[in-house]
Amino acid sequence: MADLDRVLVLAGGLSPEHEVSVRSGRRVAESLRRLDIEVQTADVDSALLGRLSSDPPQAVFPVLHGAPGEDGVVREVLEVSGVPYVGARPDACRRAYAKPVAKALVEARGVAVPRGVALPKAAFRDLGARELVDRIAAALGLPLFVKPDQGGSAFGAATVDSADALSSALVNCFAYGDTALVEERIAGTEVAVSVVDTGDGPTALPPVEIVPDGGVYDYAARYTAGRTEFFAPARLEGAVAEAAKEAALTAHSALGLRDLSRTDMIVEDSGRVVFLEANVAPGMMETSLFPMAVEAAGMDFAIVCRELAHRAALRG
Ligand SMILES: Nc1ncnc2c1ncn2[C@@H]1O[C@H](COP(=O)(O)OP(=O)(O)OP(=O)(O)O)[C@@H](O)[C@H]1O
Ligand SMILES: [Mg+2]
Repeated sequence: MADLDRVLVLAGGLSPEHEVSVRSGRRVAESLRRLDIEVQTADVDSALLGRLSSDPPQAVFPVLHGAPGEDGVVREVLEVSGVPYVGARPDACRRAYAKPVAKALVEARGVAVPRGVALPKAAFRDLGARELVDRIAAALGLPLFVKPDQGGSAFGAATVDSADALSSALVNCFAYGDTALVEERIAGTEVAVSVVDTGDGPTALPPVEIVPDGGVYDYAARYTAGRTEFFAPARLEGAVAEAAKEAALTAHSALGLRDLSRTDMIVEDSGRVVFLEANVAPGMMETSLFPMAVEAAGMDFAIVCRELAHRAALRG
């Protein structure tokens, strides 16, 4: 295997998750540097294309959350620039990023998903918001969960216990995107299962259990130290943990993902695993789920990053 000595970590971006991405990117860059790899970091801006052609790295490690990092746009640009990169190709990113599309593809492979409807803001304006809100609440039943049909870090997401609350949750949701996904609220144990492929095919890492102190894994619960308790591995019975891993591998394959992914799911008390969404650029901060899973698997985070970048470089 040729040596890996020059990697460009892409982090930042213009999405609401900018800060999280910067911190994740720093962690990946520092980890690789500790292995004596020359690492540069860059944001997605007007200097990027020039840099990729004048000083091409062996591989790009995108640690960009939200658009344009996870929706396929940046990877499309990397493809046309001829620079290999870690992670899913643009078409797969688009499938994973659009939550209703991802749900349909994963459900078709036999994994349960929350019942739900995806509706654009215009539908509420054109059809009468009150009527439509009442219909949704009647069709799906309460409680509900509202979130943008794409994006991350729980921006614009809310739990809803009444039709009135649904209206205001939708208004908030539309601040983050044009289409809202209204789902039945799934109760149970929230877990995230990371999948990594360092050469032996996609492997599911131990599920990580998320227990937010207020019961809701919102932005503050995610990024404020001490607000959420994590169990890695999750406190799931053996067969249920295996089912969660299987669901993550199914999602990874159904969406055509590559190298790494993290699937968010809720395990109901019955043991039924319900898929919520899959992420192509999981958070890499100290409090992030992917690095916790790597550690729980007895693997070294820096070495996993190097192997992922190395495999990408070999594709170049
Ligand atoms: N149908 C649902 N029922 C109950 N809780 C839900 C449901 N959908 C989402 N959640 C909760 O909202 C959180 C955010 O949802 P989801 O993972 O789909 O979005 P996200 O904002 O893209 O997250 P990420 O930053 O993990 O990419 C989940 O971690 C979970 O706690
Ligand atoms: Mg999520």
